[in-house]
Amino acid sequence: MLDPAGPVAERMADLWWIMLALGVLVFVVWTAFFLRAIRRGSSDEDDARPARGGYGSWFVVTGVAIPIVILAVVFVATVVAMQELDDEPPADALVVEIVGHQWWYEVRYPEAGVTTRNELHIPVGRPVAFRLTSADVIHSFWVPELGGKRDLLPDGVNTMVLTAERPGEFQNRCAEFCGLHHATMAMDVVAEPQAAFEDWIASR
Ligand code: CUA
Repeated sequence: MLDPAGPVAERMADLWWIMLALGVLVFVVWTAFFLRAIRRGSSDEDDARPARGGYGSWFVVTGVAIPIVILAVVFVATVVAMQELDDEPPADALVVEIVGHQWWYEVRYPEAGVTTRNELHIPVGRPVAFRLTSADVIHSFWVPELGGKRDLLPDGVNTMVLTAERPGEFQNRCAEFCGLHHATMAMDVVAEPQAAFEDWIASR
């Protein structure tokens, strides 16, 4: 997910880096105060300690105000990312239906009338409108380089629009525990130029 190949994964990687930066900042500041407290505690300067009852504003700032600021930054960044990622498939999108089974993926291309097992090819640069569902229990569809995971539910259809911006071979992972062979439930994903994709689908 830190090597994004499409716009959805890019927004998610950006969010990840923002959260890492904030986490590192909090850790460094906290460590500095912690070391200072240890050093003070080991010295004999008792009068350097704040008087009891003098913690009030300190707690409000570090325990309430700063966390609110940090959460607000993450919240706004998340909402902006969600708005940038429109889930409405464009008219030229390639429709791909994915059906989860214990423990494999059925991949259907309704336009071409092609169905494959554990094999997903997509053309580079063209949005793909995924329709996600399951034939048995809850599974999940997740190609980290392309975007966030989404569940395959037995009683409904989830949708997701992903675009590969560069060719590559990726791995889809089932990310929802679905029984004995959950760990081995995976699928190769190939993003390739339009012409290569057409050759592949014609050969099926
Ligand atoms: Cu399918 Cu886990």
